Amino acid sequence: MAEPLLKIEGLTRRFDVSKPWLNRVIERDEKQFLTANADVSFEIAKGETFALVGESGSGKSTIAKMVVGLLPPSAGTITFAGQKIDTGAGIPRSLRRRFQMIFQDPFASLNPRWRVGEIIAEPIRTFGLMNPTDARNEAARLLEVVGLSAGDVNKFPHEFSGGQRQRIAIARALSSKPEFIVCDEPTSALDVSVQAQILNLMRDLQDEFGLTYLLISHDLSVVRHMSTRIGVLYLGRLVEVAQGKRLFSEPQHPYTRMLLDAVPDLALSGRRRHAVEGEIPNPISPPPGCAFHPRCPLVHDRCKREVPQPRPTPIGQAACHALDRLAPAA
Ligand SMILES: Nc1ncnc2c1ncn2[C@@H]1O[C@H](COP(=O)(O)OP(=O)(O)OP(=O)(O)O)[C@@H](O)[C@H]1O
Ligand SMILES: [Mg+2]
Repeated sequence: MAEPLLKIEGLTRRFDVSKPWLNRVIERDEKQFLTANADVSFEIAKGETFALVGESGSGKSTIAKMVVGLLPPSAGTITFAGQKIDTGAGIPRSLRRRFQMIFQDPFASLNPRWRVGEIIAEPIRTFGLMNPTDARNEAARLLEVVGLSAGDVNKFPHEFSGGQRQRIAIARALSSKPEFIVCDEPTSALDVSVQAQILNLMRDLQDEFGLTYLLISHDLSVVRHMSTRIGVLYLGRLVEVAQGKRLFSEPQHPYTRMLLDAVPDLALSGRRRHAVEGEIPNPISPPPGCAFHPRCPLVHDRCKREVPQPRPTPIGQAACHALDRLAPAA
């Protein structure tokens, strides 16, 4: 792979979820920590769409927040364009402009009291990229780029539909001319018919502006047509990373297989669907060894003791002690 645009190594985030001090003293409780992410490493090459998938609570948004500097990691490093980010000090201004983020809920992420033109031009102002007149013209131009009309600069967010608001959020993310956009569930608040339009728009913009995406979704059908590579998260750890298309045809990790088994069969091949079995364990006290072992059909002794490390697979890498015993995917 060429020099990656984003490189993440050993990223870990713990949250202190202890009861208040006095309760702990009276009840003789220890401090409690929740590990939202443990030892997550991956790279994203320029122009790629790297997707992170996983069930609710698997730590997808926590990774997104660490990558864009909203949350400091407990351990691990983030390197952007060859420059290691001092996560304690926050992302330096010179790099900050090159990152943007699109959130799940386009209403909550847009200031309801601002006109759309001001919302879109805000990053331009923050980074001092243009004078106010040029910024206003740029906002109008970007509205057209995302399929709205230039005259919409004077409207307020509530005057738009959910899909249109997500287009405004995208226009805003583009205004500082970023290279890299983190999209956390960009379409999951939207109607299915609108989801496809937004994903198509994102892909067109990627081609036009050479963007690199980190795309986060719990929905495999969203990432399927968008992703160069896909990382599968389970309880805060990356269990498999694979080329986008091949993950669907040749999943390696038993958890990935379980997730794919639950996806509706679009090809109508008559394959039976199986619901995802079991529940995600409590991240405050995860099972020892491989956290997936209580749900895994291939579990053996070693899985209960030792955390599996990532190993190469024909389609990428996977962290599983049972890989050698896996039959090829049906
Ligand atoms: N500020 C916080 N304080 C304590 N725990 C947190 C905090 N933020 C996240 N967590 C916990 O970390 C874990 C991962 O949360 P995260 O939001 O990253 O999951 P997610 O994969 O994005 O889930 P979803 O699909 O529901 O958005 C969860 O168990 C969550 O409860
Ligand atoms: Mg989330």
